[in-house]
Amino acid sequence: MTLHNDLLIRAAKGEKVERVPVWLMRQAGRILPEYRKVRNSVSGFIELAKTPELAAEVTIQPVDLLGVDAAIIFSDILVIPEAMGLPYQMIEKQGPWFENTIQSAKDLSKVRIASPEEDLSYVLDAIKIAKKELNGRVPLIGFAGAPWTIFSYMVEGAGSKTFSKAKKMLYAEPELSHQLLDMITNSTILYLKAQIKAGADLIQIFDSWAGILSPDQYDTFGLKYISKICDAIDEVPITVFAKGAFFARKRMNELKCETIGLDWNMSISASRRLIGDNKTLQGNLDPCVLYSSDQEIEKHTIQMLEDFGGHRHIANLGHGVYPDISPEKVKVFIETVKNWRAS
Ligand code: CP3
Repeated sequence: MTLHNDLLIRAAKGEKVERVPVWLMRQAGRILPEYRKVRNSVSGFIELAKTPELAAEVTIQPVDLLGVDAAIIFSDILVIPEAMGLPYQMIEKQGPWFENTIQSAKDLSKVRIASPEEDLSYVLDAIKIAKKELNGRVPLIGFAGAPWTIFSYMVEGAGSKTFSKAKKMLYAEPELSHQLLDMITNSTILYLKAQIKAGADLIQIFDSWAGILSPDQYDTFGLKYISKICDAIDEVPITVFAKGAFFARKRMNELKCETIGLDWNMSISASRRLIGDNKTLQGNLDPCVLYSSDQEIEKHTIQMLEDFGGHRHIANLGHGVYPDISPEKVKVFIETVKNWRAS
């Protein structure tokens, strides 16, 4: 199917665009009352994600209601641990929780490489329905967590400020760590290829906990596996967003991906210098700017657009939009990007 709006894909490939494309990380769910209405019609997040018609519906909501240039499939990075044998729950106001975790070789022997067509058919079905309903209006982004971030949840069993149990395993049991990271990587490659076959037009890899590793550790346990994923996928453009990995920007230039996501701590000019001119950059407005007045939002957004320069840029926030940000403020951000032209 041809895309009527392919700005995101062209910007990712470094082609000329009439204007900078814009979407928001975590745009589906979280901020929209229309999402909450659908979410309240089922038992919770997991049932919603596992009901393809509803998952497709909330995937498309931000396209209709906010006017973004891309949809991102409604799911979660934690579907991979579940498909490998570690089911999770979403505890209200707390976040994810796993009953079983990986602490030893014995635990590792109980998990398997995911079979996406069997274990994750609900995501693939949601992608197919969303693609059909979008009817080429905008591209659909597929996604997965990076192996290190998935590893963190599989070892910790929940979110953490320090992820010290997961880091402890890297230091104390490097071999076991590599075995688990390998299994996650292989599962993720199969899963992303299945998402692309189902219709995903671009893939984003979220490494939300990249910033808690040292540069050496991130090379050994983080980038190595992201690189394997990038090497295995050449069907569609890939975006790698490694939150907090300012120390790895130069080496990220070597990844076989089209786009690097920046968080708001990363200076735009320094990032461009470190990463070079042959990658598109995505980001990176501080999500908290969206708590300010419309005029302030416009000012900060225009400053960001000017700093990126209008070429090889996909406008976004520097991390996911926060749940208590008003959709009206998000619209000011989106409209400011859409009305701006490089001089
Ligand atoms: O808007 C979208 O992009 C929808 C798809 C999406 C979700 N999670 C839905 C979700 C995406 C891309 C994610 C990614 C994700 N999930 C990441 C990487 C991005 C990041 O924020 O760093 C991480 C680390 C997770 C793990 C996760 N899932 C946490 C820590 C939590 C609890 C806190 C929170 O974000 O609400 C979730 C739950 C979750 N994932 C919800 C949604 C809509 C809220 C669940 C609910 O409705 O109760």
